[in-house]
Amino acid sequence: MKKFIFALTALAIISCSTTPQLSQEEKEAFEFADKLIKKMTLREKIGQLQQFVTRKGAITGPDGVARNVEEYIREGAVGSFLSIKKPEEMIRLQKIAVEESRLGIPLIFGYDIIHGCRVQFPENLAVSCSWDIEAIEKSASIAAEESAAGGLHWTFSPMCDVSADPRWGRVSEGAGEDPYLGSKISAAMVRGYQGNDLASEKTIAACIKHFAAYGAGQAGRDYHTVDMSEMMFRNRYLPPYRSAVEAGAVTVMSSFNDFMGVPASGNKWLLHDLLREELGFTGFVVSDYDAVHEMVKHGTAADGKDAAMQAMKAHLNMDMVYGDYIAYGEELVKEGKVSEQTIDMLCREVLAVKYRLGLFNDPFKYGRQNREEVWYRPENLEFAREVAAKSMVLLTNNGVLPLNEGKKIALVGPLADAPRDQLGAWIGWGEADRSVTTLAALKERFGAKNILYTKGSDFRKPIKGGIEEAVRLARKADVVLLSIGLSYKESGEATSLTEITVPEAQQALLDAVKKVGKPVVVLLGTGRAMDIRNEVEMADAVLVTWHGGTMEGAAVADLLSGDKNPSGHLTMSFPYCVGQVPVHYDMKITGRPRRGPQHDKKYLSRYMYTPNEPLFPFGYGLSYTEFEYSDLQVVTPEVALGGVVKVSVKITNKGKRDGEDVAQLYVRDLVAETTRPMRELKGFERVSLAAGEAKVVEFEIPTSELAYCHRDLTTKTDAGDFLVWVGADSNATLEGKFTIK
Ligand code: BGC
Repeated sequence: MKKFIFALTALAIISCSTTPQLSQEEKEAFEFADKLIKKMTLREKIGQLQQFVTRKGAITGPDGVARNVEEYIREGAVGSFLSIKKPEEMIRLQKIAVEESRLGIPLIFGYDIIHGCRVQFPENLAVSCSWDIEAIEKSASIAAEESAAGGLHWTFSPMCDVSADPRWGRVSEGAGEDPYLGSKISAAMVRGYQGNDLASEKTIAACIKHFAAYGAGQAGRDYHTVDMSEMMFRNRYLPPYRSAVEAGAVTVMSSFNDFMGVPASGNKWLLHDLLREELGFTGFVVSDYDAVHEMVKHGTAADGKDAAMQAMKAHLNMDMVYGDYIAYGEELVKEGKVSEQTIDMLCREVLAVKYRLGLFNDPFKYGRQNREEVWYRPENLEFAREVAAKSMVLLTNNGVLPLNEGKKIALVGPLADAPRDQLGAWIGWGEADRSVTTLAALKERFGAKNILYTKGSDFRKPIKGGIEEAVRLARKADVVLLSIGLSYKESGEATSLTEITVPEAQQALLDAVKKVGKPVVVLLGTGRAMDIRNEVEMADAVLVTWHGGTMEGAAVADLLSGDKNPSGHLTMSFPYCVGQVPVHYDMKITGRPRRGPQHDKKYLSRYMYTPNEPLFPFGYGLSYTEFEYSDLQVVTPEVALGGVVKVSVKITNKGKRDGEDVAQLYVRDLVAETTRPMRELKGFERVSLAAGEAKVVEFEIPTSELAYCHRDLTTKTDAGDFLVWVGADSNATLEGKFTIK
């Protein structure tokens, strides 16, 4: 009997894991790796699992002693480097690896090419607000080609961490709060970086990060603890990683945080059971920076050796930087704590990716192209300008925008002429001196004599006489543009904030120019959602320009002038205040729901003095024209499980300008096995409409897209009734109903 039960359990486990079907290319790569491994010494194998940065020609290992980089490479004690700035240096090191190490195994060079290489696109959160999946894919492919031309093989992107916490600075690197949109974007980025042929000199390897749930750190503090149910993880955080794996990403980065009590880099459930067995990932996993050794500080490893052992056993292939793998790997095998088979497995996965990149065929193919020809192609700069314009979100406008020709414009604020800040965090090989600033672009578009510029204030400190000068210019102008917000140093890693308002020094500028009595337009530069109640109250229009990349200024000029019509829609709710955070559209309804501001009784799930709703919800964004949604039709009121739900809606451009809108479809499972979000995005489409034009948009949602993780941790779709809404944001009111039988 016992035996029978065992057999059944084994069956059940096997049935929920995927044995990956290897492609011909993968098989060939693994065969190559297996042959090579037979020739390698234990130290050489472990060397492939070690990644270093170089500082002044040296590598510093866990013992704190600096060693000569060249010696390490010759010895085969390192397999990869990251963050090398100069193409020539990569070529030099590669030459040593290929020509002077015993087996000539090429190095793999990685870098954080997050939102562009030379041509910088807006930060990722901004780009996600374009909801333009094709454009996002193309921006990644441009970044890949520029990187490859400089000799890079590998980017640490896309960041797939869902987060609804704008206190966390790294929301700038992701695609916002929604798992569905995040999944479309993460897959598009992988396709963009890797293309159809990983070995092409125009494509590079992608890296899914930070695995997993790094965006759910407690209280928005970077590197903080993550603790949640597996059900929540699977429903809300896993989808973008999963879709990036399905899109074929060949590497994954383990995150800094712990997950269910175990640091991700030593978490076998995450890195092996889930990632490999269930999702079918076949590439290699690199740790985040020093994250293997940080298990000691987490308090789950006694020392570096213990940390290396745990990470190796958890199926973590490559140790980023600290050096515990190369320092202790051999000892661990000799002492029988890690088997040589484990080392072989970890090594073959690294070698296979190097093989698939074509590095064994031609270790110098990346970096051989004519860089000058590939970098900063005019058409790519033009494309970055288009993407930036599509990413910007118009939040309010009392009619002051677009600006009339011939007006005098006072341009004030620390972001108006801030070439470095507009690029945002993680700029890789980006260069601030290529930035087209708002000041430069407005002068060009509206005529230099019409632009009266002063900085007015630093980001967090007043400038002597700054306010007075701003007021003087405001008096002379017809309209005041305030380019304010956060600096690039307040975006990205290690930039957690507890106050997410515009800094005081800049608010003082707003107060002062407002008193002059001219119309005021706020151009908000930021990498995160913010509490902008004050700005919204005081300004005649608010346009979120984000950190808009190399071409930000040109895109701002396009929108302010009306040459282009704003069409971005928020992918992260702008909270009413920080006390609401995290606030996101797909929260659960609770047993005591408050059904809107008119329903303010006690004993409901609400705040006493603050609304539940964010100031601007997910999906929100205005245009200079007006779109009307009507005639929602559920074409398939009854659908069989496994079928496709069809919904159509009419969208009319009621205004006098051509424009684009993002039509969004949301659903709600009315009676489910577990509590479910109030609504969930399940479809969207960018629609372009000439003035006066109407179009019918059709959505098709396979019922499999409505699946969720149940109590027993299986993912399936419920039969029953669903509500569906279509509109221009997550508050869409046009409603229909369908039933899954
Ligand atoms: C970040 C990663 C990045 C890595 C390498 C870490 O600090 O968390 O996102 O890829 O550094 O630069």
